[in-house]
Amino acid sequence: MRRKLAAGNWKMNGSGAGLDVIDALAQAHRDPGVDILICPPATLLSRAADRAARAQVMIGGQDCHAEPSGAHTGDISADMVRDAGATAVILGHSERRENHAETSAEVREKARAAHAAGLMTVICLGESLDQRQAANTLEIIGAQLSLSVPDCTTGENTVIAYEPIWAIGTGLTPTTGQIGEVHDFIRSRLETRFGAGVGRSVRLLYGGSVKPDNAAGIFAVSNVDGALVGGASLKCDDFSSIINVLEAAS
Ligand code: PGA
Repeated sequence: MRRKLAAGNWKMNGSGAGLDVIDALAQAHRDPGVDILICPPATLLSRAADRAARAQVMIGGQDCHAEPSGAHTGDISADMVRDAGATAVILGHSERRENHAETSAEVREKARAAHAAGLMTVICLGESLDQRQAANTLEIIGAQLSLSVPDCTTGENTVIAYEPIWAIGTGLTPTTGQIGEVHDFIRSRLETRFGAGVGRSVRLLYGGSVKPDNAAGIFAVSNVDGALVGGASLKCDDFSSIINVLEAAS
């Protein structure tokens, strides 16, 4: 059985004062029936991890470098993310692929480094609107999947998030049929590559404009094991509602 996962991606938002959200979430979900992961900006990782240590909430980074150390100004290594108290890291988010020209091969190297550091990776895949309209979605997702996911993948160290770029922060979401088609495709590719044991144990999240009012429909789709939530994870009540909906769907 795959345990469901509600992951919040704060992106470049939040401050020390905003960490109260973690305390409030911990209060509201003392014995959650799903895993809860919050990924704040790197500057908040240690403080977030301190607060989460007393709660059933995991803390994750939003990126890491593939190298363990060296002359990489502004970057942080997987070991540094782990040392700050995080247990997970988001990799290959479309905003990093677009804004920092990250390739799938780089994402795979980062994932290797993250696994070696003991971090669980949330590896993001997604097509653009042009690619979807040209009926290239599965081809794009298949290529990103095979290149971004390393051979050392297991159900414990890897989560995959399907995030259509055109759905992120736009209020648009794919139909449940479109989500199911991509999630079933990812599942079958994982089973082919890693065998049924590992292939069936990797959790698959949907991300892109998940809100309390559309979460139930999304969580009812086959092979959707939770969500990677951006905007709505910044509002404690909204994220808490999404967690409740996910628990009800489990
Ligand atoms: P959104 O972002 O929920 O604000 O659309 C999702 C994400 O980018 O992970």
